[in-house]
Order: sequence, then C-alpha cells, then structure tokens
Amino acid sequence: MVLHSPVLIILAAALSSAVVISPPHMWTKLILTHHWPTTFCSMEHCHPNISFWTLHGLWPDKGIDCNSSWHFNSSEIEDLLPDMQKSWPDLLKPTSTGFWKYEWHKHGTCAAKAPSLDSQHKYFAKALELYHKLDLTSILKKFDIVPSDKYYTFSQIEAAIENVCGTKPKIQCVHPAMNTDVQILGQIEICFDTDFTLMDCEKEATVGATSEGSFFHRTGVDKPSGFSVCDHDMPVYYPPVHKIRTQTELQ
Ligand SMILES: *[C@@H]1O[C@H](CO)[C@@H](O)[C@H](O)[C@H]1NC(C)=O
Ligand SMILES: *[C@@H]1O[C@H](CO)[C@@H](O)[C@H](O)[C@H]1NC(C)=O
Ligand SMILES: *[C@@H]1O[C@H](CO)[C@@H](O)[C@H](O)[C@H]1NC(C)=O
Repeated sequence: MVLHSPVLIILAAALSSAVVISPPHMWTKLILTHHWPTTFCSMEHCHPNISFWTLHGLWPDKGIDCNSSWHFNSSEIEDLLPDMQKSWPDLLKPTSTGFWKYEWHKHGTCAAKAPSLDSQHKYFAKALELYHKLDLTSILKKFDIVPSDKYYTFSQIEAAIENVCGTKPKIQCVHPAMNTDVQILGQIEICFDTDFTLMDCEKEATVGATSEGSFFHRTGVDKPSGFSVCDHDMPVYYPPVHKIRTQTELQ
C-alpha cells in the first residue's frame, strides 16, 4: 500500500504546503517604525517642534540593500512629497531627501520583492497609508497618554496600543544614564504581515532596531543609536515638545 506510506503522506503534505509558503528570501513581516521627535532630538540636538509621532521607516524583516541599482527618484513620488515632509521628516535636515533615499535603498528595495510594493510610489504610499490609518499619536491620546511631565508605566503604553491594534508593538526607550530611575519613550514599532494586516512584533531586537542607527550617525555623531526595548518596570517619560530634557539634565 504505497499510497498510505507515512513517508509519502508527509512528503505530499510538505509539497502542498510549500505552495503557500513564501520563498525563503521573501520577507514575512513589515515593521512600521515611529519616532518621537523630542526624544530623538534630545539625542541628536535638533529642534523639530513636532508634537506628533513621525515615520521613521517601513522595514521588511528580511533583507537590507536588496538592489543597489534601483536609484531613489523623488519625481516618482512627487504627489506624496507634501505628506512625506510632514509625516516622514528628516529631523536633522528638513529640506533634504537624503533620509528617504537611504530608507528606499536599505529597506524599500527589499520590500519591493512583493508585487504590492514593487515601485517607489507603492512603497512610500503604503508606508504613509499605514501610518495615517494607525495614527499612533491619537491611540495614545485616547488613553490619556500625552506628552507631559508625569511618568507612565510601560504597561499603560503597551496596553493602549494593544487595545486598539489587538497586537503587540515593540516599544523602545532611551536610557539616559546608568543608575537613573527613568527612561524616555523614543520609538514604537507596529508590525504588519504581507497582507498589511496587523501582527505581533517580536520582543527581541530585530533587524530594524539594531541596524538603523547608521543613517543619523553618519553625520558624525559618534555613538550608537541609543534605543532599546523599554524596561518593563521603570517609569516612562513621554517628553513634551518644549520641555526637552537633554541627557545631561537627566543625569
Ligand atoms: C511650534 O509649533 C507651534 C504649532 O505648530 C507654533 O505655534 C509655535 O510657534 C512653534 N514654535 C517654535 C519655537 O517654532
Ligand atoms: C534592480 O532594479 C533595477 C532598476 O529598477 C531593475 O531593472 C532590476 O530588475 C532590479 N533587479 C532585481 C534583481 O530585482
Ligand atoms: C525619475 O522619475 C521620473 C518620473 O517617473 C522620470 O521621468 C525620470 O526619467 C526619472 N529620472 C531618473 C534619473 O531615472
């Protein structure tokens, strides 16, 4: 009874499931990364005057710099530029397109392996669409988590996002110095699957968190990015725009 051989059945199952499993080099998760500009600029010494979460990037979980010959061309996203300038600003050089070029080369060319994101216009438009649909600033506000001088708990922030999204975010903080008893909210990642449906982010640092420091540091600020997953037990400071506490002040 060859047809009922367990080996064949397993093989048949493996083959039929292989049809729906994505190719090994294809990404399976997109990470929509947000910056809190006040925190970012307290590290980088910029003065953004922006009181909402801004886009940092849309990062596939697999691949970096997937096609170096696919050059960034801002003419292709001309219609998106006003929104890009507002929602995805280069906090260090507000008039430059260098940040978007960097993000396109590093992450966009990899995201573009999916037909749904296989042009610069599709990639940047989708990032903006997900960012606006999500509206992280409003999610937090809805749960009375607003920039202020009072501290929040990590679980308050996580619960607000989980409540609205139904999935786990990755919440990152800056730890101003050893032995301080407060951490500063800086970056929040929200994850999507290949159909752009919300999914849990992993808690562990993935490709995004650890590799992204370089763009902002290539200009000569010679220290590592400084964001890491927030401590679950330490109070979280969500700094208001005009009350930037620098690292020095917190030490
Ligand atoms: C910051 O932005 C607010 C609102 O957009 C504006 O009223 C204020 O004048 C700005 N402050 C500075 C210092 O640019
Ligand atoms: C890389 O991008 C170029 C320019 O868009 C394109 O012609 C080429 O097919 C791409 N290569 C791969 C491997 O996707
Ligand atoms: C940039 O994109 C525009 C619009 O698609 C196109 O006309 C132009 O040739 C492109 N420039 C380069 C250098 O590829």
